[in-house]
Order: sequence, then structure tokens, then C-alpha cells
Amino acid sequence: MSATHSHNSSSRQAWTPESWRSFPARQMPRYPDEAALEGVEARLRRYPPLVFAGEARRLRAHLAKAATGQAFVLQGGACAESFSEFTADIVRDTFRVLLQMAVVLTFGAKVPVIKIGRMAGQYAKPRSSDTETKDGVTLPSYRGDIINGSDFTEAARIPDPKRMETGYFQSVGTMNLLRAFASGGYANLHEVHRWNLGFVERSPLAQRYGLLAERIGETLDFMAACGLTAATTPQIDETEFYTSHEALLLPYEQALTRIDSTSGEWYDCSAHFVWIGDRTRQPDGAHVEFLRGVRNPIGIKVGPTTTIEDLEHLLDILNPDDEAGRISLISRMGAGKVRDHLPPLLEKVMATGRTVTWLCDPMHGNTSSTSTGVKTRSFDAILSEIHGFFDVFEAAGAHPGGVHFEMTGQNVTECIGGAHRLTEEDLGERYETFCDPRLNAEQSLEMAFRLSEELKTRMHRTHGGAR
Ligand code: PEP
Ligand code: CO
Repeated sequence: MSATHSHNSSSRQAWTPESWRSFPARQMPRYPDEAALEGVEARLRRYPPLVFAGEARRLRAHLAKAATGQAFVLQGGACAESFSEFTADIVRDTFRVLLQMAVVLTFGAKVPVIKIGRMAGQYAKPRSSDTETKDGVTLPSYRGDIINGSDFTEAARIPDPKRMETGYFQSVGTMNLLRAFASGGYANLHEVHRWNLGFVERSPLAQRYGLLAERIGETLDFMAACGLTAATTPQIDETEFYTSHEALLLPYEQALTRIDSTSGEWYDCSAHFVWIGDRTRQPDGAHVEFLRGVRNPIGIKVGPTTTIEDLEHLLDILNPDDEAGRISLISRMGAGKVRDHLPPLLEKVMATGRTVTWLCDPMHGNTSSTSTGVKTRSFDAILSEIHGFFDVFEAAGAHPGGVHFEMTGQNVTECIGGAHRLTEEDLGERYETFCDPRLNAEQSLEMAFRLSEELKTRMHRTHGGAR
């Protein structure tokens, strides 16, 4: 353990769920009605937790496996969930595409795929600018439905604490559905494979993707012939599915933080996994202070401005005992930067012998604007960042732990490219995101097929064709 570590932990006061309040907090709304805020917080503190500590611990153990290449993480979902798009179909479709992607990735990676949704609580958004100007009118920025409204009016943009309660109940509803889907037979592997065959049929690259789908189908038939069916093997019929969101709105996260009766430790029971964003990861800031004390597995976004010093400092504060599975570093460099910016950080973490799980978020460093000012991302840039990420890990002899996508099960038109060759002109057709552009269902599946091919080839290279 380094000297900085003992210094950091001893110089901090004891942690409590509200100790973050004496640290500078970026990106936090100022609620005009304090009494209303306190009322909501008091109610939230009494509401049931969304997840149990034991589940978060199980996820932590899975993530520890991903750090050493014995599992692979697929994290994905909306940039921002919204109150108006709270329907069973939307939840089901995102869940379904994640399952479809997971099957394809399992086949390529030859290890269990850990499925984590950006779902059931992903409502708060950090913003680069505090204000937004339209036609000469300047208003406070929209910060996600759990904070204020997206309508471009003065009234909608006032932070309203009641939204936290709505966010909680919508998360409960989403979580309930996810649990039912995961264990009620909807996740049956044979069904998921049939959906994938449908995707392949519709794809202009049917031939390319068909080969992989065919091999998965044969494997499933073989397993069934050997007696591995839903009746004998629960894994055929059900799946583990975890939830995650950015722990941005600290009053909400604090209210859902509870002591686990079995271990006596604090867990943020708003989700299994929570992460700190690129804009709130200051080592002496409130978000880091809050996450220091909860025992969930946590993520830290690592961007082009992350320094080696800050990263080491963060790991000291957030994982002083270097527990495997506790920290996932989510690299979001951009396709043009990942090959230069990631290696020094990765090498430093390796050199200090720390255990972390590295994920690739190929979305947030690859946002661009069209000539008419529409935010988009290109399929090729996203894929290119993933290639770069894998190359960096291969060169360092390290294990890439997984991927993190902004995606949806709907056939929106927000990112350009992919086999259906969406262009800038197509973006107007179904541009529905409340924040960043997401891969649509077909683009997400295509990404999984590409990734699966890639994982297979790389394995051949590193294992000399043993797989
Ligand atoms: C996000 O994941 O939605 C996000 C805002 O990412 P970042 O903090 O990496 O910009
Ligand atoms: Co986003």
C-alpha cells in the first residue's frame, strides 16, 4: 500500500451517507423549495430498496472475474431514461436486445457475459454547460427527468424534488419487469437465438452474420441433444441481469443508501452498480466522497483529461484494500485518442499491481454534430474505438473486461452508419433521445456480431489457435 493511500484515508473524516455534503459537489441542482426537498428525502429514506446487498456482492464477484478474462461485461441502455417513455415495450425491447447481444458475445468470448442495463434509475444527466440558448433565449440546462423538465420553458427547467419520487417509482416498475423477464422464461436461450436469426435475415450483411448465427444454432441443438434443456438446466431458461446508473444526484442516492443487515455495511440500494461520470470524478469532490463509503461495485469514467495522478488518487480513496471487482474503469477516450491516452493509464495501473476491470465506452468520446447541428455518432467511429481499446490491451498483455453502450431496442435513427447505412439525412426520421444519440436495435446487434468476430480472432492470436 502506498504512502498516499494511508494519508488519504486518515486525513478524511469518518464516512456517513451524508458526509458528501461538506465537499464541493459539481453538477448538482439547487432546489428552490427546501422544505419540499426535505419532505421527499424523508419519504425516500423509508421506501423499500430497489436491490439487495447480496445481489451487489454477487455482481462484484462476477466483475472480479472479468478483470482476469474469465468473464466479459456487456453494459448498455439509454443515455437517459425518460418519464414519458415508461412503457413495458420500451423496457422489454432494450432488455431483449441486450440478451441477444450477450448470446452472440458469449459465443465469441467463450466466457460468461455479465449483463448490466443502464436501466431502472438512469435519469440524471451531467451537462457541459449550465445554460442552453435557443433563438436568443437562455434557460438553465435540462439535467434529466429526475431533476427538471426537457421542455424549453422557464418553469420546466426549475429543479423539482418531487421528480425524485417519480424517478424512484418508475425505477421500481422497471426493475419489477426486468426481474420478471430475467426469471420468467422470457430469456430462454432458444428464443433469443430465434430473434437473432430474424435480425440476420433482415441484415444487408446476412451472409456474414449468418455464419456465426448458424454455429450458435448448431451448438444449441447439440446441447439439447445432450439433455441440456430448460427442464434440466435453469441457465437455458433464465438469466442474471443487473442494473446501473450514474450516481449523480446525491440526495437521491443517499436516501436509498442502507445498512445491509448481514454484513453491517452500507450499500447504495438504488442499483447494483453505480458509476462516477467524467465531470464529477474530482478526488476531493462530493461524488467521490459518497461512493467511497458504499460497498457496491462502482465505475469510474476515464477520459482524455484523466491524469495518472488523479487515477491513482481515486483508486486509493475508492478501493484502499484493492478488492477485485470493486472498481471498473470505463475508458471513454474517443476513437482518435484511445491509442495514445489509454496506454499510460493502463500501464500505471498494471505497474502498481492494482486489480481493476476495464470497460470500453466507445460512445462518449465520439459524439459529433451534423452540418445542421444534430448530435450524432458514427457506427464506424464507435467500432474503431473498440478496436483501439482491444489493441491497447493486447499490446500490454492485459484483459479487456467488457463494453459499455448507449443503445435502445427501438429502431430509432440517432447514430449514422451500420449495415443499413443510415446517413445524416435519415436522422430526422426517428430521433427520440433525450440526451445522447443511441445505437438502435439493429446497430446494437451488428456491433455484437462484429465484436464477437473480433474476440474470436484475438483469442486465436493470443492462444495460438487453441480456441
Ligand atoms: C454517460 O455515461 O451518460 C455520460 C455522461 O458519460 P461521461 O460521464 O463519460 O461523459
Ligand atoms: Co450519454
